[in-house]
Amino acid sequence: MPAILTINGHAIEATPGESIFEHAERLGVRVPTSCQKQGKCRECMVEVTAGAELLTERTEEERHLSGRFRLSCRTRVAAEQGVVECHTMRRGQMRIETESAGLAEGPRGVAPDPAVVREGDRILLDGEEIERAAGPLHGIAMDLGTTTVVLRLFDLETGARIADRSFENPQRFGGSDVMSRIHYDCEHPGKLLRRTLAGYLSHAIEEFPCDPRTIYEMVVVGNSTMRDLFFGQSVYTIGQNPYRSVTEIEMAEGKRTTTSLTMTGRRALVPIHPRARVYGAPIISGHVGADAAACLLAVDMAHEDRLIAVMDIGTNTELILGNRQRVLAASCPAGPAFEGGAIACGMPALEGAIEDVRADGAGGFETRVIGGGPAEGICGSGLVALLSELLRTGRMNELGRFEDGGRIELDGGRVFFLENDASELAQAKGAHVAGLQVVASRYGVDFSDIEVFYLAGGFGRHIPVEAAMRIGLIPKLPVSRVVQAGNAAIGGASMALVSMAKRREMEELVRRVEHCRLETDPRFFDLFVEGCQFKPLAAVGVAG
Ligand code: FES
Repeated sequence: MPAILTINGHAIEATPGESIFEHAERLGVRVPTSCQKQGKCRECMVEVTAGAELLTERTEEERHLSGRFRLSCRTRVAAEQGVVECHTMRRGQMRIETESAGLAEGPRGVAPDPAVVREGDRILLDGEEIERAAGPLHGIAMDLGTTTVVLRLFDLETGARIADRSFENPQRFGGSDVMSRIHYDCEHPGKLLRRTLAGYLSHAIEEFPCDPRTIYEMVVVGNSTMRDLFFGQSVYTIGQNPYRSVTEIEMAEGKRTTTSLTMTGRRALVPIHPRARVYGAPIISGHVGADAAACLLAVDMAHEDRLIAVMDIGTNTELILGNRQRVLAASCPAGPAFEGGAIACGMPALEGAIEDVRADGAGGFETRVIGGGPAEGICGSGLVALLSELLRTGRMNELGRFEDGGRIELDGGRVFFLENDASELAQAKGAHVAGLQVVASRYGVDFSDIEVFYLAGGFGRHIPVEAAMRIGLIPKLPVSRVVQAGNAAIGGASMALVSMAKRREMEELVRRVEHCRLETDPRFFDLFVEGCQFKPLAAVGVAG
């Protein structure tokens, strides 16, 4: 039997001497490229999940890659038999919007007040002419996550959202969490992480239904590391105690008045108008970044009287607790497990991901897959639902041990879940829970005092809330107090794009936030160990 190559779930008989890229072309699978298979653009990356030993040796052009990542235009199947499985960096479908967005999803109710306006055929940015043209004025909001990148295109004159685009952050070849990315960036010259992302961003922007030269402003949010990598800043100091970005250090030294960053479109390496402004929202402190700042805006913290909590679950989870009087924020290095990283069949919440799981009562599971097609993997919301069902049906105990073997199969075995995966999720959950307890304690409140609990993040919108409470990912509160806010960070970025008043409000809010450094709290480790168990989190904070 000849060797079989599977790319993004499509199988083909491998032809000796032909690259993975060429096989993908024959299969009709699109591989990102700017150099047409010359080994120069580094965009044609694939992650090899099976049969890596059947491939040709790494080439010179792949020196920057390690682990499961290869350049598909340089890699060939060397063996005559066996199975190789790989996938390109995943992309979400572009969504063309027909309605205005919800509060946490975009600028509904926010009067358009953009930095870019038109006066006749003159296009002005903050009052300065940057172009003469009659065409539309567009802007992009971007949430640059460690695992997933989300872009939104807006009409700046009406504030209308035109289209959405999301894709897996291709910087994964530099590690799945921020500390590994920092290490990679410091070890490898040439800003490879920045340039690879720029290639993917360029393709995404060029696919938007508009002339990229009509994009005159872009607002970027993301954790401190992601934001600063995008702007070409050194991230070395974010990786060293006391974990401060260059902008935070400069602000402390009186060299700048905000941690926000700006750059022209030309310098940002993206194909928007060259004189466009790219604005990096301010970071709060340490790893509490511009995504947390955007969340503050999305939940309208500046006008909130109630005590609210925001948990934006991601590779780096942001925790915010407060109201318009006082706000505390912290960042939990939870790792990528709840975004599908470090999980055998994990994947981001994109097409093909199992997003919900229910035990069917006959020993099997019913699943719901994003996009409705065959399952390729399981994303965070599916993992929370699965853990909850395993716990509810007694197939897993509170310590994450399986009662009947170490493998749970979903969708006829296409996707599986291991005891080791449960252990990865337990540790990520432990970090979330410990963070929440420290923040509540510093604020001097019990969980039961929280009046609204916003569950944000890509998967926060879809997880069954009871499931998240059953496994102890969020405190046990009346369900009516939990709001599944969706991607609040992109919502806040969108508001800051469309409204300068909102942007100023965000800059102002960020100055008032107290940063809660979890790593210095002596209770964190014990709380983490306790939080690794899958059991409801009592509605009580920690004294002290
Ligand atoms: S296609 Fe450009 S490096 Fe492979």
